Amino acid sequence: MTGKTFNVVLVGYGHVGKAFYHLLREKRDFLAARYGLRPEPRAVFRSSGGAVPGFLPPGKDLGLEPGQRVNFPEVLTWHPELRLKTVLEDIEPGVLIECTPSNIRTGEPGLTHIRRALDSGWHVVTANKGPLVVDFKGLKDRAAQSGLALMFSCAAAAALPTLDVGMHSLAGAEILSLEGILNGTTNHILTRMNQGASYAEALREAQARGIAEPDPSLDVEGWDTAAKLLLITAAVMGTNLALKDIKVEGITNVSPEVLDEAGGQGRSLKLLGRVRREGGEFKAEVSVTALDRSHPLFGVDGTDKGISYSTDTMGTVTITGGNSDPRAAAAALLKDIINIFR
Ligand SMILES: NC(=O)c1ccc[n+]([C@@H]2O[C@H](COP(=O)([O-])OP(=O)(O)OC[C@H]3O[C@@H](n4cnc5c(N)ncnc54)[C@H](OP(=O)(O)O)[C@@H]3O)[C@@H](O)[C@H]2O)c1
Repeated sequence: MTGKTFNVVLVGYGHVGKAFYHLLREKRDFLAARYGLRPEPRAVFRSSGGAVPGFLPPGKDLGLEPGQRVNFPEVLTWHPELRLKTVLEDIEPGVLIECTPSNIRTGEPGLTHIRRALDSGWHVVTANKGPLVVDFKGLKDRAAQSGLALMFSCAAAAALPTLDVGMHSLAGAEILSLEGILNGTTNHILTRMNQGASYAEALREAQARGIAEPDPSLDVEGWDTAAKLLLITAAVMGTNLALKDIKVEGITNVSPEVLDEAGGQGRSLKLLGRVRREGGEFKAEVSVTALDRSHPLFGVDGTDKGISYSTDTMGTVTITGGNSDPRAAAAALLKDIINIFR
């Protein structure tokens, strides 16, 4: 058989993890035909234990030779006693997909999963921002020392290709500043507020439509945007910022007067993440900003996102759009896997 067959272990089987698992099944033939890639899901973990696809025996010895193929799973058999460490050490290293909840203060549990995977020779593709927010340089160095990839498009605005453009399309240009609408939930709420809804109404509506979490605090207080800003600027500008270096304002205190004033001037309020060089330093902030029509991100409404890079040689380059849902997040994970093996 030609092409590349490799093991995949998925940690986290919630909205994104499930969407990823199903996308792998859906795209199986396409991946083989177009890219010569045959990812083999070998284990899936939730907080309560793990599952092996099909009917493989659980435990220390999974009963598999390195690289041995199993049929693509139609069934996940759950085994509460299955441990990630065991699987990572017992089978041929491939790609670990990290989809557990983002804790941007401790990085856990993803930080431990990613370190363990890299130490066992696995490439890592993560949806989870937390580990990289807490230890970006440490994890990147760990991966580089072992010649492994650590990819995080999904954690850096998912379907919007912030990193691909910043790292590859703008290679050789110096990025002098960037501005981004990086959180679809807050952009949706602000869009509704720009149309006349109150904050409370817009939030309730977003929660009812599943756009905002039951606890939306990380989004509406600006921390999700700050975390993405930190990751993107670390990757494309070589910053080494911590969350505490970013001045963060959310959307919870936008007054009707501010909305009216912006509306009266034909402007639109956006939660903008911004980084610029000032002297030898990087200044980073997240704040509600009134954009006028000439701004490249003015028309980014609803759950859409966008980023605008200002460069020394290529001028200003802006990208917008991309779906904000678990399937699109899963697609960003898949893209990173493909790019590891390109
Ligand atoms: N939702 C999106 O559209 C989106 C977009 C981009 C990035 N992300 C990021 O993707 C990640 C996953 O988001 P989600 O919406 O899928 O979250 P979710 O629905 O809450 O799912 C989280 C999953 O992680 C599992 N988990 C928690 N602790 C674990 C542990 N110690 N070991 C193994 N598994 C554990 C949970 O297990 P149980 O099933 O047992 O509870 C659950 O299956 C987050 O970091 C998020 O920031 C999400």
